[in-house]
Amino acid sequence: MKYEYTTNSPEETLALGARIGSLLSGGEIILLSGELGAGKTLLTRGIVQGMGPDSETKVVSPSFTLVNIYNARLDIIHIDLYRLDSEEIAHLGLEDYMDRDHVLIVEWAERAGGFFQGPTVDIAISHAGEYSRNILISTGFPGIEALSR
Ligand SMILES: Nc1ncnc2c1ncn2[C@@H]1O[C@H](COP(=O)(O)OP(=O)(O)O)[C@@H](O)[C@H]1O
Ligand SMILES: [Mg+2]
Repeated sequence: MKYEYTTNSPEETLALGARIGSLLSGGEIILLSGELGAGKTLLTRGIVQGMGPDSETKVVSPSFTLVNIYNARLDIIHIDLYRLDSEEIAHLGLEDYMDRDHVLIVEWAERAGGFFQGPTVDIAISHAGEYSRNILISTGFPGIEALSR
């Protein structure tokens, strides 16, 4: 299934993320692509907000920490592959998080090569203006079909 959105402010992107977060049931691998400043981290913040109360959570770019973990309704693993090569990606131990108790969110997923196998939620974000973004979602996860409603 494919869904296409245009958001016209950071708040709208946060709200779309929160809707996505509310539909996740565990096991999803969310692959975010798009250039610097596209809104990958902001969409992630929305997704985490949509996963239930976790007031301590501060979603920040994991460019320097490599891996952020947020404990919400499900544990959310947030990584950014921007500075990593394929060997480093393979050594992050991500296999441990690819199960139904976790949601994995990957920024700069286009750098992952073929690392993520099986069903994924692919989200491509592109600039459509200073405050506008096109957000294209392709998903093999049936739960997210409610997005169209
Ligand atoms: N419609 C929009 N959606 C998302 N971000 C937007 C939008 N309009 C402006 N922005 C700005 O773009 C930037 C996106 O930053 P960020 O989420 O860190 O991008 P990335 O993680 O893709 O590098 C933020 O400064 C945000 O305020
Ligand atoms: Mg980012």
